[in-house]
Amino acid sequence: MTEALRLGVNIDHVATIRNARGGRHPEPLRAAAMAASAGADGIVAHLREDRRHIGDEDIARLIDEIDLPLNLEMAATEEMLGIALRHAPEGACLVPEKRRELTTEGGLDVLGHADELKPYVERLKDAGIFVSIFVDPSPRQLEACVAVGAPAVELHTGHYCDLPPGPARQAELRRIADAARFGASLGLEVRAGHGLSYDTVGPIAAIAEVVELNIGHFLIGEAIFSGLDSAIRRMRSLMDKARAEALGVRSA
Ligand code: PXP
Repeated sequence: MTEALRLGVNIDHVATIRNARGGRHPEPLRAAAMAASAGADGIVAHLREDRRHIGDEDIARLIDEIDLPLNLEMAATEEMLGIALRHAPEGACLVPEKRRELTTEGGLDVLGHADELKPYVERLKDAGIFVSIFVDPSPRQLEACVAVGAPAVELHTGHYCDLPPGPARQAELRRIADAARFGASLGLEVRAGHGLSYDTVGPIAAIAEVVELNIGHFLIGEAIFSGLDSAIRRMRSLMDKARAEALGVRSA
């Protein structure tokens, strides 16, 4: 059982609000600095092809001015690869991207695109960037991640979070837990994220093999009501409590 559960705070939607008026406020950089002091272990930012939230300058400044590691979410395109290689963030998470989607809607189909993805994984790794791939909790996708040489995966929790409490959500939770166990048995570092909130984070944090959660939209939304510092601290405490309880159950 992994005791330490890292929290990556995704600050994309601070940029969404900033961009609504085209000025500089609110600054994603200030949110990143606040996340650091509130107990985040890393910053996550998705540089999309259409630059709808995070922009190129944000990435440069996050690397230069924030002490926490940056996990750059990116589509596997030559443009994004060039940017990643130029800035050399700590990590890069390969995600699927469609122009018209509201958010990342599903995991990357690694199985169906292994030959195209492998060179991206290799070039990022050669540059010393730790590569993860955002995938649905499917054993075949996890095997494909190993085949393309990725050291880590991030399991998509969006479907689990979208389901109302009940048997279907429980079934999806089991699918994620099984995938986490299988991924770890393949030697993959297992992370999870998408759609997580105060209500849904506990059962995911309790999955022993998951070492990192990446959370954005809910935290930025909740910051409107309670402030970002307080929202991150509360999320951190819910994660840590769920992990500690799971540890207790295992060792009892
Ligand atoms: N992980 C990945 C790979 C994502 O694409 C996103 C959304 O950008 C997140 C985590 C965070 O999801 P949310 O903003 O719903 O918390």
